[in-house]
Amino acid sequence: MAFLIYIFFFLTTLALAAPTTSRLKSRSFQVDRVQRNGYVAHGPAALSKAYRKFNISSTTTATTASTNSGFQALNFKPINHRYRNKHNAAVGTNSTSAGQNGTVATTSVDGDVEFVSPVSIGGQTIMMDFDTGSSDLWVFSSELSAADQKSHTVFDTQKSSTFKKMQGATFKISYGDGSSASGNVGTDVVNIGGASVQTQAVELATQVSGSFLAETASNGLVGLAFSNLNTVSPTQQKTFFDNIASQLDEPVMTVSLKSDSSKGAYEFGTIDSTKYTGKIANISVDPTNGFWQFTSASFKVGDNGDTKQMTTTTVAIADTGTSLMLVSPEAAQGYYEQVEGSVNSEEVGGYMFPCNAQLPTFTVAVGKSTATIPSNVVSFAQVGTDMSGTEYCYGGIQSSEDSKFMIFGDVFLKTMFVIFDQRGPSLGLATSA
Ligand SMILES: *[C@@H]1O[C@H](CO)[C@@H](O)[C@H](O)[C@H]1NC(C)=O
Ligand SMILES: *[C@@H]1O[C@H](CO)[C@@H](O)[C@H](O)[C@H]1NC(C)=O
Ligand SMILES: *[C@@H]1O[C@H](CO)[C@@H](O)[C@H](O)[C@H]1NC(C)=O
Ligand SMILES: *[C@@H]1O[C@H](CO)[C@@H](O)[C@H](O)[C@H]1NC(C)=O
Repeated sequence: MAFLIYIFFFLTTLALAAPTTSRLKSRSFQVDRVQRNGYVAHGPAALSKAYRKFNISSTTTATTASTNSGFQALNFKPINHRYRNKHNAAVGTNSTSAGQNGTVATTSVDGDVEFVSPVSIGGQTIMMDFDTGSSDLWVFSSELSAADQKSHTVFDTQKSSTFKKMQGATFKISYGDGSSASGNVGTDVVNIGGASVQTQAVELATQVSGSFLAETASNGLVGLAFSNLNTVSPTQQKTFFDNIASQLDEPVMTVSLKSDSSKGAYEFGTIDSTKYTGKIANISVDPTNGFWQFTSASFKVGDNGDTKQMTTTTVAIADTGTSLMLVSPEAAQGYYEQVEGSVNSEEVGGYMFPCNAQLPTFTVAVGKSTATIPSNVVSFAQVGTDMSGTEYCYGGIQSSEDSKFMIFGDVFLKTMFVIFDQRGPSLGLATSA
């Protein structure tokens, strides 16, 4: 195998540490509670969440408990977040004319496990997760049990003068493993950074299970995929983006996700030319399945690698609501074959590698263009330490297993400026400024 020289150094403080270790077959790990800046990104949990969301059956199962082979995965305590609404989520304006626009900051949570932004519902500001991989706007509500409201901000219909109940309407979001959120539906004024919809369907959770409860930084989702995935019955409802599109100067939503929360933003209605450099690659989107779906037929590992065809699947979706980048099994394997000491661990659930390994870039086709992921985002989180004291990091690139499409989540999206464009529809990708 050729020795590759990379211009990107992973964690400059660790670069040039010990020479590469040989590929070990079996390892045992000890619990090593490492916290950077007070958070630990739980990589395996992020992968299981994606598998649950898209009902992907996996050959590797993430663990959180010790197993009989002596391995103990890191155990993470949920961190209670309190966010101030320090950005310009204008509240209570009700412009109804054309020429609307809106900008909100988006804040990284726990080392980019998710990103949350302020949303005003009936004048109440609530931190929510913007999710281009689903189509329901649902929120923790005062109709939840007191126990389930704990550590969350809830939307209280009693305190909104603009809320109207939608008689008989219900919603239910189900994940493959049976976890869910469900409840009643109404309409209210929803304002995102100044862009306002007067009668947006707002889905009020009366029941929320497991993973949604544990994510205390987020109090619900703003679904931004296509409205044909919306789960409200008996009458399907439109997403915020679909409702506001015709009132925007341009029917676009742009996304710049940044680990540095002062810089990330969602913007509706305008393409801010100061946020990107160079040309925008315009990729055609197939909305049939309700996702921001496009073709991605090939990949390349390293700057000088050979371009190889994807075989398991040649389509991908852009999903802000998924932390990791899930690529076809052959592409994930192809990538980690070039990372010294990497393992696809059944016990941890996914690919990991010694944190001091040198990582190649990863290039994927996006429509007729290509996008290159710099190596620094491939190190998602620390997962543990082996007996020799080598620290292991969890891969930001993981396998989409048997999924019909790949899921290009935040690891992919945060490396660029992304335009979700209803014209076409299409996706625009450009280099972040
Ligand atoms: C918003 O609209 C309501 C009625 O539709 C009106 O009473 C209120 O004054 C308006 N608010 C603003 C800020 O224009
Ligand atoms: C955004 O909307 C505000 C008020 O609706 C308007 O004053 C401003 O010019 C708009 N900005 C852009 C970039 O369209
Ligand atoms: C998940 O997939 C399994 C089999 O692949 C199927 O039986 C089940 O109904 C699916 N669940 C959901 C919620 O789609
Ligand atoms: C992308 O292409 C579509 C046509 O398929 C066009 O309507 C749209 O304006 C283009 N978007 C950008 C950002 O150039």
